[in-house]
Amino acid sequence: MNRSIAKLFDSQATSDGDGVKIRRITTPRNMQTLDPFLLLDEIASDDAADYIGGFPSHPHRGFETVTYMLEGAFTHKDHMGNEGHLKAGGVQWMTAGKGVIHSEMPEQHEGRLHGFQIWVNLPAKDKMQPARYQGFGPEEIPEISLDGGGLVRVIAGSLLGIEGPVVNVATEPSYFDINLSSNNAIEIPTIEHHNSLIYLYNGSITVEGQQINKGQLAQLTPGNNVAITANETAQFLFLSAEPIKEPIAHYGPFVMNTREEIEQAISDYRAGVLCD
Ligand code: CO
Repeated sequence: MNRSIAKLFDSQATSDGDGVKIRRITTPRNMQTLDPFLLLDEIASDDAADYIGGFPSHPHRGFETVTYMLEGAFTHKDHMGNEGHLKAGGVQWMTAGKGVIHSEMPEQHEGRLHGFQIWVNLPAKDKMQPARYQGFGPEEIPEISLDGGGLVRVIAGSLLGIEGPVVNVATEPSYFDINLSSNNAIEIPTIEHHNSLIYLYNGSITVEGQQINKGQLAQLTPGNNVAITANETAQFLFLSAEPIKEPIAHYGPFVMNTREEIEQAISDYRAGVLCD
């Protein structure tokens, strides 16, 4: 059965980190609705004033942050002394688990920066696991050229027998970056009960007669296939993963199951033992 659009969400202009201007999709309600996806941020600016402050030192506990860059670059540093360079076309999949304290700072003082950060929840049994990274450069992300025009970059999951490099993630996600030429179409097989989302960052597409425009996120109905047509040249992220179906307690950079676990995270962070 083909999936159709269950709900459309408009992204909102906001800022995070040290004054970085972003477009964000989430509300406390959506955190349950989009399970296991918690939040989606897009940074897209030609103006350094919008991003130069970056994201100075901050903690995370209980979920995964996934950063994917299209243009520009970030330097990542964490409490364990890890330093990484996230280049255009590359991805960093960070399983924060019990705790990470890190900074994410732009490597440039001018020019265009365009990228996405998605928060993916962890099930209760994995929330306190040690932090873990999977990082891949642009050349490590396989690409599929589409008949009729277009390109799919397979970050996680598989499409047409091509597997993405990100593996061993609790929610078994698919994450594709799709560029579809005007009037071309693509079909994506999906696991029926997975939660599937499309975020349009350029152009417009149609799914089962309903249009999705730039800056909108579509949550799809359950099904084992998605049929997408580009109304004009379109670029979008396709996300699909296993819902966790557990209670969510959220405060700032901590996502746990209960209020008590949130209070523990805050006190661990204040005591300097978040990551121990
Ligand atoms: Co962070």
